[in-house]
Amino acid sequence: MPELREQMQLISKCGIRLSTDFNPELDVKIYEYSTEYIIKQAEASLKNLGTDRLDLLLLHRPAPFFNPEEVAKAFDHLKQSGKVVNFGVSNFTPMQFDSLQSYLDMPLATNQVELSVACLEHWENENIEFFQKHKIKPMAWSPLAGGKIFKPESQREYRLHSVLKEVAAELGVEAIDQVMYAWLLKHPVGILPIVGSQHIDRIKSAVDALKIDLSLQQWYKIWIASKGEDLP
Ligand SMILES: NC(=O)c1ccc[n+]([C@@H]2O[C@H](COP(=O)([O-])OP(=O)(O)OC[C@H]3O[C@@H](n4cnc5c(N)ncnc54)[C@H](OP(=O)(O)O)[C@@H]3O)[C@@H](O)[C@H]2O)c1
Repeated sequence: MPELREQMQLISKCGIRLSTDFNPELDVKIYEYSTEYIIKQAEASLKNLGTDRLDLLLLHRPAPFFNPEEVAKAFDHLKQSGKVVNFGVSNFTPMQFDSLQSYLDMPLATNQVELSVACLEHWENENIEFFQKHKIKPMAWSPLAGGKIFKPESQREYRLHSVLKEVAAELGVEAIDQVMYAWLLKHPVGILPIVGSQHIDRIKSAVDALKIDLSLQQWYKIWIASKGEDLP
């Protein structure tokens, strides 16, 4: 239905070639960012999704063998042919992002990285400051830590589970998933969480998290539980 298509944004990724039945010629997984392969994967996504354009195409991972000129050619072709509207990356460091950006005529729209109460890596590698400097909203993959906080196993997961329960009770919400989303949404960098669940009730619960406003103290309590130590 064309009206529905106008209300949604379709996002796909490219670059990882698995050694599966799809690629019988490969013995091992490889990353490929040649002009031809990027175009081929974008066109395959269009076919699989039954659409004539992607709103956003991401490079899935930084690669040890990477030619930004080849990527720029692919992006130009896909943009000019109207097959892709915007381009971005995933799991890139600030330097990797900057390096690719310097070869492109269009601004990269986002960097999709792992961000959650249990993954603080991008606060530690200065990606968050980089996003703020360039006014880029990062997409957060595994915003609920892939589900592991719901069934804690490690000491850290137990600590997080307990603080999330405490904050949920203070806020008068039942589900700790809402607190995990609210923790990301509170951050001024403008995080866009990617909901992993395909259960409609869990997706509705994620939307309800938009109404929650954590206090700064609650935000830090969760940070401290994740780090396992007080602020310096
Ligand atoms: N760019 C990358 O490198 C990269 C890497 C990984 C993922 N991603 C993207 O990020 C998306 C989200 O990642 P993710 O799936 O790991 O997200 P997530 O939301 O952190 O985790 C989803 C998992 O949590 C479970 N879950 C959700 N709510 C729950 C609840 N209330 N109680 C118990 N379990 C619950 C889900 O189970 P149910 O399904 O049963 O609800 C599912 O197994 C993926 O779909 C993928 O598109 C990107």
